[in-house]
Amino acid sequence: MTSLLEVSGVSVSFDGFNAINNLSFEIGPAELRAIIGPNGAGKTTFMDIVTGKTRPDEGHVLWGGMNKSLLKMNESQIAREGVGRKFQRPTVFEDQSVFDNLMMALKKNRAPWSVLFYRQSAADRARVAELAEEIGLSDQLHRKSGELSHGQKQWLEIGMLLAQEPKLLLVDEPAAGMTLAEREHTTDLLKEAAKTRAVVVVEHDMEFVRRLGCKVTVLHEGAVLAEGSIDHVTQNRQVIDVYLGR
Ligand SMILES: Nc1ncnc2c1ncn2[C@@H]1O[C@H](COP(=O)(O)OP(=O)(O)O)[C@@H](O)[C@H]1O
Ligand SMILES: [Mg+2]
Repeated sequence: MTSLLEVSGVSVSFDGFNAINNLSFEIGPAELRAIIGPNGAGKTTFMDIVTGKTRPDEGHVLWGGMNKSLLKMNESQIAREGVGRKFQRPTVFEDQSVFDNLMMALKKNRAPWSVLFYRQSAADRARVAELAEEIGLSDQLHRKSGELSHGQKQWLEIGMLLAQEPKLLLVDEPAAGMTLAEREHTTDLLKEAAKTRAVVVVEHDMEFVRRLGCKVTVLHEGAVLAEGSIDHVTQNRQVIDVYLGR
């Protein structure tokens, strides 16, 4: 398998503290991967490095079949390459409807002049309907986004990212603050999205990770401690010790 993203030997320190420590990580083009690890393990910093927000002190971050270096690109160039990132706090436009938020996300792909002369085409409306279906908000299209539940806002934001057709979607703790039913829907949605692109999910909730049913990477002190199925990693002695704080 040729990988979509290959991180190798990456290190970064903040004021002498090694947040990422010789980290290597690979993900395939249509792979779902969970990243777990204790607070401060470097999970968010890993995403910051891939998206160009943080520059590593050492190592390589290679992208796509042509092995382009993401370290030579800025944040917006990396986003244009097809790396989408969802932050913990949703950033939907609360005064706009679900439909309008999705439509704006579709338009974001286009050149500024095309937005100026923009008319909603039937194809765009159909794409918005398809995205709404994918995130389970078909019956909420005309609601103001501010009226949605916390979980629904998270799904809307995932839909807005999917509108950009990323090749890699990075999602940081999507299940935080969700009800059990919302968490279940989120698992299904991410599994579905990973059929056509790579999805990396950082998550604390073990049941959530178990339901994802994918390969798990355990980070600890900025490096990979264990990798494999959820059963494999949760039986790993070192992982147990880290989680029990030994
Ligand atoms: N910009 C920064 N400046 C200084 N320290 C940082 C910065 N970003 C992260 N850190 C530190 O790096 C470590 C890893 O943080 P983080 O990646 O947020 O961990 P996680 O997401 O796994 O909880 C933490 O000790 C954190 O305090
Ligand atoms: Mg974090």
